[in-house]
Amino acid sequence: MKKESMIRLRNLEKSYEQRRILRRIDLHIEAGEFVFLTGPSGAGKTTLLRLLYAAERPTSGEVWVAGNRVDEMNSKSLPFLRRKIGVIFQDFKLLKRKSVLENLTFVLRFHGLAQKEAHRRAYTALKRLGLQHRQAATPESLSGGEQQRVAIARALAYQPRLILADEPTGNLDADLAAELLSLLCDINYQGATVVVATHDQSLLAAIPARTLILHRGQIEYDGFWPP
Ligand SMILES: Nc1ncnc2c1ncn2[C@@H]1O[C@H](COP(=O)(O)OP(=O)(O)OP(=O)(O)O)[C@@H](O)[C@H]1O
Ligand SMILES: [Mg+2]
Repeated sequence: MKKESMIRLRNLEKSYEQRRILRRIDLHIEAGEFVFLTGPSGAGKTTLLRLLYAAERPTSGEVWVAGNRVDEMNSKSLPFLRRKIGVIFQDFKLLKRKSVLENLTFVLRFHGLAQKEAHRRAYTALKRLGLQHRQAATPESLSGGEQQRVAIARALAYQPRLILADEPTGNLDADLAAELLSLLCDINYQGATVVVATHDQSLLAAIPARTLILHRGQIEYDGFWPP
């Protein structure tokens, strides 16, 4: 059976002003893969993820996600793309004026779920991250690790086919980081494609997986890690 393609980058270049951040990136990720994206700070990991959910446009080259040519999408079709993608942002992007639970239901409602179903899914996702007791809190009153887990719950609640996680364990202690990693593995096992950007060596060492190492804007290594 031919495997379905989830992500395809063709001769991708990204520059900010005159600075080239990503150069000549060719990449193929099949549906159902688990992939780490690593490399030093400033290597372009966040930029690469942002290109995948069309928060940025490439300077040249093609970006394909789930069969869609993302870099040519107009603003009308973007919501359809984003429904397929769960993004865990490096800086969380939680809505300050909403409660933890509302942060989740808001996104689910936006994706078209009825209030009751949105509430049920939001609560289930919070429970999975061990945060149900904080559902009424505002994000500001949470610790960094708790905010990170809310951001994760929000990305997972819609059960997207593609999860893009940017340093998802940056604010978590070792135990929670391990728990999160096994959660992402479960979700991957259930069929979602998972891409995790991280420079956390212990995370990379915890499970052998396809790993992309970005260096000076290029993919320097693409293979199993540890080798
Ligand atoms: N909007 C922007 N305008 C100008 N330069 C940018 C912009 N976004 C990112 N950059 C630059 O692109 C480079 C790559 O940044 P990026 O955030 O992708 O790195 P990263 O690999 O995610 O780093 P980290 O591990 O610190 O998160 C950096 O030098 C950064 O300063
Ligand atoms: Mg980054």
